[in-house]
Order: sequence, then C-alpha cells, then structure tokens
Amino acid sequence: MKELLMTLSRKEKIGQMLQIAPFFFVKDLKVEVAGPVEALNLDEEKIFLAGSVLGIGNPNEMIEVQQKYLEKSRHKIPMLFMADIIHGYKTIFPVPIAMASSFSPKLAQACARVSALEASTSGIHVTFSPMADLSRDPRWGRVVEGFGEDPLLIGDMSAAMVKGYIGEGYDKPGTIASCVKHFAAYGAAEAGRDYNTVDMSRLSLYSTYLPSYLRALEAGARLVMTSFNTVDGVPCTVNPFLLREVLRGRWGSNAVTISDYDSLKQILAHGVAENMKEVAYRGVTGGLDIEMQSAAYANHLETLIEEGRVEEHLLDEAVLRILELKKDLGLFEDPYRGASSELADKIVLSEAHLAASLEVAKESAVLLENDGILPFNKETKIALIGPYATERNIIGPWHWHGCWNCHEHLAEALVDQTIFVKSDPSVESYSHADVQKILAADIVVLALGEKEWESGEAHSKSNPTLSKEQKELFSWIRRIHPKVVTLLFNGRPFILDDIVTSNALLECWFLGSMSSQAIRSILLGETNPSGKLPMSFPRNVGQIPIYYNHLNTGRPYLGEHDHNEYVSKYLDVKNTPQYPFGYGKSYSEFVYENLQVSKKVFSPTDILQVTVDVTNHSDRDGQEIVQLYLYDKVGRISRPVQELKRYTKVWIHGQEKKTIAFQLSEKDFSYVMPDGSTVLDSGEFVLYVGGSSNHTIETTITLKGTRA
Ligand code: BGC
Repeated sequence: MKELLMTLSRKEKIGQMLQIAPFFFVKDLKVEVAGPVEALNLDEEKIFLAGSVLGIGNPNEMIEVQQKYLEKSRHKIPMLFMADIIHGYKTIFPVPIAMASSFSPKLAQACARVSALEASTSGIHVTFSPMADLSRDPRWGRVVEGFGEDPLLIGDMSAAMVKGYIGEGYDKPGTIASCVKHFAAYGAAEAGRDYNTVDMSRLSLYSTYLPSYLRALEAGARLVMTSFNTVDGVPCTVNPFLLREVLRGRWGSNAVTISDYDSLKQILAHGVAENMKEVAYRGVTGGLDIEMQSAAYANHLETLIEEGRVEEHLLDEAVLRILELKKDLGLFEDPYRGASSELADKIVLSEAHLAASLEVAKESAVLLENDGILPFNKETKIALIGPYATERNIIGPWHWHGCWNCHEHLAEALVDQTIFVKSDPSVESYSHADVQKILAADIVVLALGEKEWESGEAHSKSNPTLSKEQKELFSWIRRIHPKVVTLLFNGRPFILDDIVTSNALLECWFLGSMSSQAIRSILLGETNPSGKLPMSFPRNVGQIPIYYNHLNTGRPYLGEHDHNEYVSKYLDVKNTPQYPFGYGKSYSEFVYENLQVSKKVFSPTDILQVTVDVTNHSDRDGQEIVQLYLYDKVGRISRPVQELKRYTKVWIHGQEKKTIAFQLSEKDFSYVMPDGSTVLDSGEFVLYVGGSSNHTIETTITLKGTRA
C-alpha cells in the first residue's frame, strides 16, 4: 500500500481521513442538502475525496454511491462503508446488556456472525460495534449498548462479537470489520449524564476500564472509535495519552482511529481549541486518523502542513492504516463487496437467523424473583396488564434496520392463556367489569417498563425507575390479586422498590425480534431461565455507583451484626444492592458444595485445579452459570473484595450432581498498578464459588514466592 500512498496528492490523502454521510454523493448538493454541506463547509471536490461513508440503507444505495464516487475519483480508491450494526441488522438480537446476561460469549459470537452475514448484503464493511465501555451507573442510558460492570465479562463478550463479525476472515463473503468503541472510559460519565466529564485515576483506567477495549483489539477489531468525554481534561478524540501512549505504544495496535460523530469539532466546546484549524492540529497530533462528520481535517490540514506545524508523516501513517484496511477487506478487488439485493432477499430475516435470535433471547432474560408461581402451565388463565402487554416495539433501541412492528406482541404470543388484556397504565381507567375479569384470572402478568427510546445515547435519567403511574398500577394490582408476575422491559438496571414483592419478577430487557416468543417459552416452562445480571441493581439512586468489585475501605461495614457507628455505611439504606452482579434464578435449584483446590499452598508456576460439585436439587433440567471469584487479601495497593476470574455455563439434569473444574494460573493472581505495570504478590487469596457474586462457598489458598 506504500506505493499507492506515494501516488496520492496531499489533498487526496487528507480526503481518506474524512467520513461523511452517503447522501453527499448522490444528491444535488446545491439544492437538496445545502444545510449539511454548508455546515461542514465542504465543496464538491473535497466531498468526492472522502475515504469513507457513515450509514447506508440498502445494497442499491451502496452501489450507487460507490459508483458515483469512483466515476469522479482520479485515484479510484473505493470508499469504506461503515454503519451501526449494534444488535443485529434486520434480524434483531437481544440488546447487548441482555446478551451479556446470557454469560455466553458463544451466543454473542453467533449473533455477530448473523449480523455480519445480513449487514454485508448492504455493502457494509465496518460496524461500529462492540461497545466495550464498562459502566457502573444505570443512570447512563448507554448501559443498554454495553455488557455491564465487569471487565472480564465485557472483554469476553466484546471479543466474541469481534470474532463473529470477522467469521473465517475477510477473504470470505459475509464478513465485516469491527470498530470497538468508545475509547475510553465513556461509561464513567459523572452522575451518569451522557457526554459528561470523566475524572478517573490511572489505576482505574488500567485495571478496570481499558482491558475490554484491548480484548476487542486482540480479537481482531480493526478500528477504534474515540469517545465524547475527556480523560485528564483532554477530550479523548485528541488525547495523545490514550491514542499514542496506550493504543500505539503500550498495546502496539495498528488499528485505525476514528472520531465519534462530530467529536473532533466538539473540542471547541470542550474549550481546548479556539478554531477549526487548531481542532485539526490537535486531532492529527493527538493520534486521530478519521474525522467523522466534521471537516477540520478537510479544511485545515493542508495549511497546517504547508506552515510546517504538522509533519506529513503523521498524515502518511494514518492514511496507510486506512489503505491497509481497505486492502484487507478486498475493496481493491471488489469495491461493491457483498452488496447484493438477491442475497439479501435470500438470507435476511431467514428462519435460521430468527431461530438464532430466539435462542439468545431465551438465555438473556433474568429471573429475579420466583416463589414457585412460575412456570405456569397451558391451562393457567392470565390477565395481561400494562404498557408492554400489546407493545410491539420491544426489540430494543438502536436496531436501525430492524422492523419494530413486524413481530408478535405479548398478548398475541400468550393468546391461549390470556382472558383479559389491557395496556393502559392508569388505575382510574379500569372499570368494575375489568376488575371482575382480573379477579377471574389465576395470575396477573404485569408487563411494565420504560419505552425503548428511553435508554441509549443522550437518554440519561436521574432516577432510573418505573413511572409513578406504573408503580401505582403495580400497587393496586398487588392489593387486589394474590398472584402477580411482573415482566420488566428496560435498557438499564432499575430501582425496583415494591416491584420486588412480585410473586415472580422477570427482567426481560429488550430481547430482539423474538422477544415475545422467548418470554412465552419462559413463562410456560418450555425454557428454564438461566440469565444472570451483568450489572448490580441498586436499591435507590443514592447507592449509585454500586458494583461488586469495590475496595474494602479502612472501616468496612461487616453486616447486620456490626453495630459500630464509624464504619462505611448509610443510615438509610443497606450497603448491598437489591440484586448483585451475577445473580439470577432458575426453575431448578442448584446447590454448591465440596470446593477443592489442587494445592492450598502454590507457587507462581503452578496451574491450580479448582473443582466444585453443583447439584440440581430439582426434577427440572437447567443451566447454571457457575462463577469463580478471587480476593487478594494483601497487596501493594488495596485490592477489590472480589473479582470474577472464571465462569462457565453448564446443563445439569434434574437431581444430577456435576463436578465443575476450573484452572487458575499466575495471571489470575496478578494485578495492575497505577503505572500500568503488572505485579504479583505472595500471600493469601480467598477463592469463592457460587451462582452469583453473593456466593455460597469459599476456601483460602496461599501463594508462596513471586516473580515481579
Ligand atoms: C455514537 C456512536 C455511533 C456514531 C455513529 C454516535 O453518536 O456515539 O456510538 O457509532 O454516532 O452513528
């Protein structure tokens, strides 16, 4: 690609670093899109030098745009087409926070595979997924797009998605490249308000927030999208510490960096550049390759180079990375790579893809409460009440090409059981006749939640909970009927208050195209729920941020029997979350016992074998997510009270006992220091195993000797 690079003019090179929307290439710029064109201050020459496109509707549109571009292009380098395929193209899978609840990277990979197969028929080459941002704050609307609060789980899910997109390699059809986002620490916005300041120690960055992006890169992500926030006061889009020191230096990554939507220009509002020329300067020196949807590079880079303020090699390095990506994706052989209406008609929304979505959906719901009321049987008569009883829009936010009203709603899926349906949340709207019908039902199923669009970008909430009206509806139903099953549709952990008194409570999140079928299958016991929470559910807003892998404090609260006044606790709420990370019930009952470790005293070179017996004390076959946590009791720095190190999902037949085995090695006992180095200390570790971060059994082991 170096030879090709040498043939490009400076203007052409700068063009490769610009990404704009596809309509720029097909509409009459003077008439139809005067506004956006003027806003970017781009003339036709600059537009037709752009290296990539953001978003594309269908194969024909892609072909038209690429054709028009290539006709006018001197160098004939095809454009890259990038888009947000977040949880499916047209076959929509559960939202990422739900997918994470499956604790199954295998399923996430399968979902990404289908997404790539479908999306590539539109000529899409790159997806802006996965979102590897860790978040401990359910007020932040974008937790719906991520995999929760744990670095290991987020890393596993992100890596799996990347692998699914790539499939067996770019030389095979039906594959797309992945852009991991939003680098970095976007999920730590203060008070959960989107785009807000991030103020974070290097220790938290290195140990907690950065590893998941690296996992995606190691799995083969070819691009990195910068985030809207600042780190150390520097917007991430122009942050040399992140883009040069960490990404290129420490991680040795050659991934193409791309801004978020307009985020390069936004550094004006951040107050770190006073005009667009300085914006361009900070971007290119900071380490940003592609500018999305603003035009500082296109309008100012050339002058900056002519003035000698920016060295041309910065440009060359960025453009070379972009050209290499185009080459690896095979664009030089086929600029229309993948775009095919015929293929789209054949495979998009195929039965097999919908079946794959259903499989993930069934494993992504989390049973939070159940006093035995679930599952009900086919003869059970239910009253189905609440806004989600007849809501079709339950496939989840940011589905873009997904069809939100093509699928059954709950009342349709549960038609054989339902004797009364009403979606009005207002208690006053229920007549005497309604009440009689509700009372005639064996069970009331309440389908409550927040609207799909209430989570996602720029949809933060100061109090993530149900509306007052829905809470009143719940209280009223609770009073008049003894058997209440609540289904929750939401894009983030909710503060649930009295809702936890439901006889059964199922966290459905948004489960994609096959939501209603998956929920029906769980309610009727055809599917035994197995999801676990990837994020803690707080009891109230004041507890946020609340997460399982916190430090101990110098005055830890030891629980209900601790009457010491000067300990770290609240006067008005418990320290524990409503539901902890890793928690979720099953229709089976799993009991953990007999935790064994191959060596109680071990050295850094040992591979430890850990075994535990898990017995299904019920007659129903079920899947359990067995989790192993470690606590490093004494380190050079204070260490989290526990960290997830291993998990596995196993089928255990009714009344069967299974011995589950894990292996641990030096890496699992090591940890990161504030300077990013990794160390290992001798001493005691507590090993916990159970079905959640609120585990049941433990043992202490001792590491003798260190390496670092
Ligand atoms: C979002 C990104 C997204 C981009 C392009 C931005 O507003 O933050 O996640 O990939 O738009 O659509």
